Amino acid sequence: MAFGLFKKKDQTQPAAKAGTDDTGSHYHDLKVKNIIQETKDAISIVFEQPSKKISYKSGQFLTLIVPVAGKEVRRAYSLCSSPFVDTDLAVSVKRVEKGLMSNWLPDHLKVGDTLKVMEPMGQFTTEYSSGNKRHLIMFAGGSGITPMMSIIKSLLTQEPDSICSLIYCNRDIDSIIFKNQFEVLQTQYEGRLHVIHILDNAPMNWQGLSGLLNKEMLTKLFERIPGCGLEKTTYLMCGPEGMMKNVETLLAEHQIPREKIFKESFVAGVLDKPRKDDQPAAEKKTRDVTIRYDGQEHVIAVPHNKTILETALDQGIDLPYSCQSGLCTACRGKALSGQVKLDEEEGLSKSERAEGYVLTCVGHPMTDDVVIEIG
Ligand SMILES: Cc1cc2nc3c(=O)[nH]c(=O)nc-3n(C[C@H](O)[C@H](O)[C@H](O)COP(=O)(O)OP(=O)(O)OC[C@H]3O[C@@H](n4cnc5c(N)ncnc54)[C@H](O)[C@@H]3O)c2cc1C
Ligand code: FES
Repeated sequence: MAFGLFKKKDQTQPAAKAGTDDTGSHYHDLKVKNIIQETKDAISIVFEQPSKKISYKSGQFLTLIVPVAGKEVRRAYSLCSSPFVDTDLAVSVKRVEKGLMSNWLPDHLKVGDTLKVMEPMGQFTTEYSSGNKRHLIMFAGGSGITPMMSIIKSLLTQEPDSICSLIYCNRDIDSIIFKNQFEVLQTQYEGRLHVIHILDNAPMNWQGLSGLLNKEMLTKLFERIPGCGLEKTTYLMCGPEGMMKNVETLLAEHQIPREKIFKESFVAGVLDKPRKDDQPAAEKKTRDVTIRYDGQEHVIAVPHNKTILETALDQGIDLPYSCQSGLCTACRGKALSGQVKLDEEEGLSKSERAEGYVLTCVGHPMTDDVVIEIG
């Protein structure tokens, strides 16, 4: 969601749509230039920028598309590179227990391989201006550091009067991704980047904080962090759901207005949750939906127990998507008419919903006149 000067929608750039190259294609084949073992269970994958450069914004993600066990699997990975600083594109992937893609990548991917990716997407972004004077306070947990890394590098280089404070929570010292890079950045941008580590299990000689982030700890942190509570302070968070809920509660207790708090969610909850079935039996019917995408119009019959995206994909219609759980907004479209019910509304802001935006991956038609425009 849009944070401060950040945007959560309207990702278009003046010259070309963010993420597309000058052919306008939504897909790219990217060559793996390097694989960096960041921690025991996290790697960074560095992709060579193709000759037709892919544009992106800090905070956006790439969708990696990989055939695993004969099936095409897509997952979103936030870019940790900055378009202002890094020549190449990079993502960092942390293993998830029994996870398909997050284990396949470190186990199988090699330097020199080519991976199919979808254009960069996502709205956890901002516009940078050298005249800005703002403070970003970031709360990250585990792999949630990736979009923050990109935003930090862009902010430090593009806005000389802005500062950034990062509160980074991890299981233990060996799980800290980019630990050395943050030390270098703190020295290089002295006084403008404050990194505070919090560990669940701290070693004996640990100088930082340990334990669960609680009210007392946050109050102390706010006393330590310069500029907290200033009007131009924006709060960003990305990490495990539990951590983000905790931070949201703590910030509310500190009277931080909701409109200053923005989060990026990684965890796909909806697929594991039982789907809400509050529809009266009489309304459980198949309805036609018209989808306009890439200059084409498709009419599909969507059964009550399927989403609009599922139905379109079943029929071989190539619509954009990534997380399939209502979090990433890769599948976002605007309902020009009709009513659409969303199983999960997390990915859209209130104003986006009011403007008629819907997510096809969690969307069901409630009327027979639904027309959705994507892109
Ligand atoms: C916008 C966006 C950006 C993302 N950026 C990153 C990133 O930069 N780095 C990164 O490592 N991941 C990122 N993710 C998460 C990533 O897309 C995958 O969900 C993750 O790698 C797990 O995929 P998998 O195929 O290994 O697991 P799956 O086979 O899909 O899932 C296995 C089980 O693990 C659970 N699970 C899924 N993700 C997590 C998680 N993060 N923590 C704990 N449990 C989980 C699932 O609910 C499921 O029960 C991002 C997700 C989104 C939506
Ligand atoms: S595919 Fe991610 S929100 Fe729909």
